[in-house]
Amino acid sequence: MSKDVYILGIESSCDETSMSIVKNGYEEIATIVNTQMDVHASYGGVVPEIASRMHTENITMVLEELLNKANMKVEDVDAIAVTYAPGLLGSLLVGVEFAKVLSLVYDKPLIATHHIAGHIYANNLVKKMEFPLLALVVSGGHTETVLMNDDYSFEVLGRTLDDAVGECYDKVARVLGLPYPGGPNVEKYALEGTPSYELPIPMNNQDLDFSFSGLKSAVINLNHNEEQRGHEINKYDLACSFQTVAVDELVRKSKLAIEKYNIKRMIIAGGVSANKYLRGEVQKMCDEMGVELTVPPLKYCTDNGTMIACAAYPQFIKGDFTDLSLRAKSQEELYKC
Ligand code: KG4
Ligand code: ZN
Repeated sequence: MSKDVYILGIESSCDETSMSIVKNGYEEIATIVNTQMDVHASYGGVVPEIASRMHTENITMVLEELLNKANMKVEDVDAIAVTYAPGLLGSLLVGVEFAKVLSLVYDKPLIATHHIAGHIYANNLVKKMEFPLLALVVSGGHTETVLMNDDYSFEVLGRTLDDAVGECYDKVARVLGLPYPGGPNVEKYALEGTPSYELPIPMNNQDLDFSFSGLKSAVINLNHNEEQRGHEINKYDLACSFQTVAVDELVRKSKLAIEKYNIKRMIIAGGVSANKYLRGEVQKMCDEMGVELTVPPLKYCTDNGTMIACAAYPQFIKGDFTDLSLRAKSQEELYKC
């Protein structure tokens, strides 16, 4: 029988300092997520300089807490995996340099893991992914459909030509005066409303790419015009109207991809995959199409070290290691993994 593989995953690409130990790519041993959300909330969004400083302050403590929780030592793990891209450069740097030090001091192989691969592989915590599958990636920086014919094979079928859907949720939240992080708050308001405002359908065509800037501008303009007229906007209804159009578009484009590529399995990934309306609508569409859907556990939808340790496992098996020359990158295509 082959030996179990324990990977320490480190994630610091935005405003969460998180580490996790995962066994064999799917069994979580322990995870710590230290979020800076409350600090950034007072600025209405993530302030990169503050984020990187806080990562530096927190990262050693996060490791210590993790090892206590797992009742393990760094010596016990087989590899150190770290998000090296994409994200805020100063934030990524802290995790990458920390991972390098651990790899050097404890003589452990170092694995450079792509943040979006992490979001996708969080699904292995539920059920080992089988291929081919369609991944709908929806986060603060990404909106894309990805065809995976195998482990670590990523073919982007459609992507946003402008804003990511998470970014739009955050902008709509600002317009409605809801606090950061916007997505979960817009979702809460949408639950109480009806889709009574008319908003434009983005990219109303058969193309697989997405575009959300028109929808975002329409929400901004509608709010502005109503203010000018002295009308009070119904925040619940506007949140609901926005969410209905945005999610419909995500589902419509996923369905087009499923039809075009005759896909039988689908997963969703990234921060916006925590959205219950999206999860429900994708499930309905998959049921209609006879497609098997897997969704990540709610707590692993937003950024965490667990997903990084999951995504690093196939890299470990392939011997895809890096060395101390590893550099953090703010942008990097998924297919380059
Ligand atoms: O994956 P993530 O944590 O960070 C990035 O890699 O970008 O995603 C963060 C994004 C934010 O835009 C946030 O507003 C959105 O995910 N988000 C949500 C929900 N939870 C987080 N959007 C809609 N509904 C949610 N429940
Ligand atoms: Zn993310």
